[in-house]
Amino acid sequence: MHNYQPMEIQALGDVVGDSLQLAVEAKGTEADLIVICGVQFMAETAKILNPERKVIIPVQDAGCPLADFLTPEMIREAKERHPGAAVVVYVNSTAEAKALADITCTSANAVRIVASLPNDTILFGPDANLAAYVQRELPEKTIIPVPSGGYCYVHVGFTIADVEEARKRGSRIVCHPECPPEIQERADLIASTGGMTRGAISEGDSWSVFTEREMVCRLRMLYPGRIFYEKPEAVCVDMKKISIADLRRALEREEYEVILPQGVMDRARQAIERMIAVGT
Ligand code: 13P
Ligand code: SF4
Repeated sequence: MHNYQPMEIQALGDVVGDSLQLAVEAKGTEADLIVICGVQFMAETAKILNPERKVIIPVQDAGCPLADFLTPEMIREAKERHPGAAVVVYVNSTAEAKALADITCTSANAVRIVASLPNDTILFGPDANLAAYVQRELPEKTIIPVPSGGYCYVHVGFTIADVEEARKRGSRIVCHPECPPEIQERADLIASTGGMTRGAISEGDSWSVFTEREMVCRLRMLYPGRIFYEKPEAVCVDMKKISIADLRRALEREEYEVILPQGVMDRARQAIERMIAVGT
């Protein structure tokens, strides 16, 4: 279950985490049937890492508009223009895009992954804000976002007005690296959803949490003594598509199974396994 899933779904999960944790746990599992409650690319990643197992997602139309920004053609064109560059594809992407990557990354490990590569130039997609974050952390590299303006509509909804409101409340700000650079620059902390749950947020403070609003419910549950503020409008519609009834039906009928072409899975697996090998 991803951290953005409704709390009643999260409560039923064996594993709740960020996209990196879900990928790593999916690779390590012994279970014959893996149910992913999240969005399509997360279920695809689990399937790619477990080609012999049955992987299902309880609804068929839980997508990620960010993932849809990056087409295989865009990667091929960018590679032609920059033949010496490495291709780093964010896991929020299609299986076909991952299949063309040298390595994948998540928001939790993007800086570490890019730093691990010998190439000076990196083609990075689809999130241009995450690309800008990596560029700021690694000024010695040239990060080229592919496409130039890929974004997550939930995270670009955070504005300077939200920063000002948080400051008026006296809270510190933690933002996801999918937020725009002007928000990242003003935040006290930039973290993936997993980074937020793993205690990147220090005790004793109140925090405005600039990511999908369900994250705040999870943080309140994990750290009952601390104060967290959400932005009520920050909702990922696709992350709310799975209901308890969908999950029950999915378990009873073992549907909807993730099916991907073998060749795509084999190439994408190499890129994901390289990421996991760099370390979590
Ligand atoms: P995390 O990798 O932090 O879980 O983020 C996934 C995501 O979809 C962010 O919008
Ligand atoms: Fe995709 Fe944004 Fe939803 Fe994350 S929050 S799954 S990036 S649309």
